[in-house]
Amino acid sequence: MKNLFIKNFGCQMNLYDAGRIADLLGKSHDLTPVSTPETADLIIFNTCHIREKAEEKLFSELGRMRKLVGGHDAERKVIFAVGGCVGQAEGEEIFRRAPYVDLVFGPQNYHELPMMLNRLLYGEQKIHAVQATATDKFDHLPETGQTGPVASVTIQEGCNRFCTYCVVPHTRGREWSRPVADILAEISVCLAHGAFEVQLLGQNVNAYSGVDAAGVPHDLALLIRQVALLDGVGRIRFVTSHPADMNDDLVAVFSEVETLCPYMHLPIQSGSDAILQAMQRGHSVEGYREWAKKLRRAHPDMALASDFIVGFPGETDNDFQDTLNIIEEIRFDHAYSFLFSSRPGTPAALMEPRVSLDVGRRRLAILQERLNQIQRQNNQNQVGKREEVLVERPSRLGDGMMSGRTRGNRMVNFQGSPEMVGQRVQVDIVEGLPNSLKGCLVGKG
Ligand code: SAH
Ligand code: SF4
Ligand code: F3S
Repeated sequence: MKNLFIKNFGCQMNLYDAGRIADLLGKSHDLTPVSTPETADLIIFNTCHIREKAEEKLFSELGRMRKLVGGHDAERKVIFAVGGCVGQAEGEEIFRRAPYVDLVFGPQNYHELPMMLNRLLYGEQKIHAVQATATDKFDHLPETGQTGPVASVTIQEGCNRFCTYCVVPHTRGREWSRPVADILAEISVCLAHGAFEVQLLGQNVNAYSGVDAAGVPHDLALLIRQVALLDGVGRIRFVTSHPADMNDDLVAVFSEVETLCPYMHLPIQSGSDAILQAMQRGHSVEGYREWAKKLRRAHPDMALASDFIVGFPGETDNDFQDTLNIIEEIRFDHAYSFLFSSRPGTPAALMEPRVSLDVGRRRLAILQERLNQIQRQNNQNQVGKREEVLVERPSRLGDGMMSGRTRGNRMVNFQGSPEMVGQRVQVDIVEGLPNSLKGCLVGKG
């Protein structure tokens, strides 16, 4: 065994996990990551269960792998493993639909991969191993191999919120916070590897409640204050936040901690109280409005991002109009919006009346068009500003263009050169597009 190919689906937490899996198997089996499955000895699909579409895509990709991994009766040449959230939720279904899969695991037990791999190498035919909660996973992972200007570090796993549409509490399990010292140690390694920005990850980081070495509980605000004290941290961000777990301290850190970026991904999902209630979000529209106001008061450049679900069971034209009203009012800087997807085992899957696909799609199109217009207007309001941009990579636009982000998390493309990756540059914003800004380089630092 030499080469490892990981195909990643889903959220930033999955991306983080894929990195840790590569660290782990690099150490245990000396596997080297490769960018195509054709030359791999071990293929891992790290999967997402959040919406039906994500799952459909996975099953079609699984089908395409059949030839490559040799069919299930053929002598095994390649080991094929499916991990992540579909692995956790639908293990049996994966073996049924793709019998050439050798191993199914979940997001909370990938630290056992070296042993599971050995079991397969010594003749075991199929392994189905999942675990409901993160308890000791992080204790069994080697030092992070993450490099690059932006480091992502998981601080919290799972979710106890049980929004009625969502599979995450079932796939990632109950909420669990990593101890403060572990998080700080991992961030320090990333900083030594050249990171400037640190992203703290979790499905609901606002519920973070880890302890330090002395056993003192820390909430997210306190953790941020500690991270800010590490030498070399230039920017701090966190995703994702639940409005019902907001607190005033978390607002205060935005005015007090200079390295904390003025950006918050605080999904509202709907502008209607009736729908928020049916979703069991645990907050009202008015409650959200208050937090948005406080956050914008705490930092003049505060950028707010949100997620939306349209076509939730029972959503009327009036409910949808309320969602359109709230986006006019809050004017989000960035947003993701989705058509409700019925997920097996969630309460919303059984709720009535259902919104027809036609109506749902129409509402989604209307919402997205308006969100985009607002986003473009917000981006146009950035024109004329001088911004610090952390350069991440050459832009997909080519032609010597480079891409990076402002402290408000806005993507900026500007004429530069590849050796700028990892540096901070000053850029004058000259154009605001729906999803990005165009800038003009003025200097470094
Ligand atoms: N933990 C995060 C979000 C996790 S999933 C949070 O609570 O903010 C990311 C987004 O996917 C959610 O915010 C929601 O908008 C969307 N989503 C989750 N389940 C969905 C479903 N069943 N159908 C449609 N969208 C869904
Ligand atoms: Fe899902 Fe709600 Fe938890 Fe977010 S807060 S992961 S939407 S259950
Ligand atoms: Fe998907 Fe699991 Fe993330 S369901 S969104 S990969 S937590």
